[in-house]
Amino acid sequence: MEEKLKIGLLGLGVVGSGVPEILIAHQEKIRQVTGMDIVVDKAFVREIETKQALGDAFNIQLTTSIEDILDDPEISIVVELMGAIEPAKTYISQALEKGKHVVTANKDLLALHGGELVALAQKNKCDLYYEASVAGGIPILRTIANSLAADDITNVLGIVNGTTNYMLTQMVSHSKSYEEALREAQELGFAESDPTNDVDGIDAAYKMVILSQFAFGMNIGMEQVAVKGIRGLSLEDVATAKQLGYEIKLIGAAKKAGNSIHVEVSPMLVPVKHPLASVSNEFNAVFIESSGVGESMYYGPGAGAKPTATSVVSDLITIAKNIRLKTTGHMFNSYRHETLLTEDNEIFSKYYLSLEVPDERGQFLKLAEIMNQADVSFDQVVQQKSDGKTARVIVITHTTSKKNLETVSKKINETTSFSLENTMKVLGE
Ligand code: HSE
Repeated sequence: MEEKLKIGLLGLGVVGSGVPEILIAHQEKIRQVTGMDIVVDKAFVREIETKQALGDAFNIQLTTSIEDILDDPEISIVVELMGAIEPAKTYISQALEKGKHVVTANKDLLALHGGELVALAQKNKCDLYYEASVAGGIPILRTIANSLAADDITNVLGIVNGTTNYMLTQMVSHSKSYEEALREAQELGFAESDPTNDVDGIDAAYKMVILSQFAFGMNIGMEQVAVKGIRGLSLEDVATAKQLGYEIKLIGAAKKAGNSIHVEVSPMLVPVKHPLASVSNEFNAVFIESSGVGESMYYGPGAGAKPTATSVVSDLITIAKNIRLKTTGHMFNSYRHETLLTEDNEIFSKYYLSLEVPDERGQFLKLAEIMNQADVSFDQVVQQKSDGKTARVIVITHTTSKKNLETVSKKINETTSFSLENTMKVLGE
């Protein structure tokens, strides 16, 4: 008879119900790999009646009292899948203080309070794993922590929010409106309960904070991430970008320059030849540049019950092995480096600008002067008719610093006849 490892599950929603399903479906393999039977014993739910059928199907005891799980000495691992900060933070902290190992998919919590929870886990010699918090089914955190441990990562580019990637694909390829695309993403279960975090780039920023900890060992605060979502994106920009050979994607970027990093989330122009350009719908991908491996990309589903639950179960398997080998209490990510942020004059990129200008003589000259004074040069320029009086001008600059681009944007905004509609980074091929 194999040793039984009992799990207390907090939350029996979309991902929560996937966990016992996978544990049962792959029981024999998990038993061989860990030498244990991992079973969900109890689940903490908001309302028993609505979850009773699931409880019966998976033989899980349901409870609305958190103490039933936290005070049960037979439960050695708590899996938190409720989301949001509270009460998840309190329950996880209490579980760790009681010596229980914890698995969570809660990116909001890890990005905002990860340091505190990791310290608590260390103090109590417990494991704390959270593979499912970034890019759902893609085993990206474990890959960076283990497989790329010998490498020096210089750049991480991620499509890490399935909702916005789904929306952009549907808007561009199927001419759906922003509202229609968002509604579909919600119906398909990709979006957060409040999709503001998805469309405004906050969810992606949480994931980039966690990725930066793993890739660069640095603890970036959310206030240090420049975040812009897809709300202000116009279909005209998307169409023009396509004509110029780019796809617009919501990209999370964490780039190292010397010893410092710059982390941001914003819509960016991705050359059609770049591997990230082909990532569509709810799929996620993380593209990594490193000195040893070179370029590598990790692609897969970023949300959904089964992929996310599979990552959760992989964490459970890791803990089961640690228990067996008596090696619990080590950090998921033990790489630490002083947090240093790159100055704006050392952040370089090509940029896309779209602006409305009066359709009359001398306007390009004015624009060229602004660019020239800021030491920014044109790579591509396109003029489109807007109405009889106005022209829409699209500029792609040669590589320049963020500081120079800001000077150009400020000068354009000060020019009363010009209206700067949008600026976006342009990734290299
Ligand atoms: N709302 C998230 C997304 C779910 O769309 O990617 C997975 O974290």
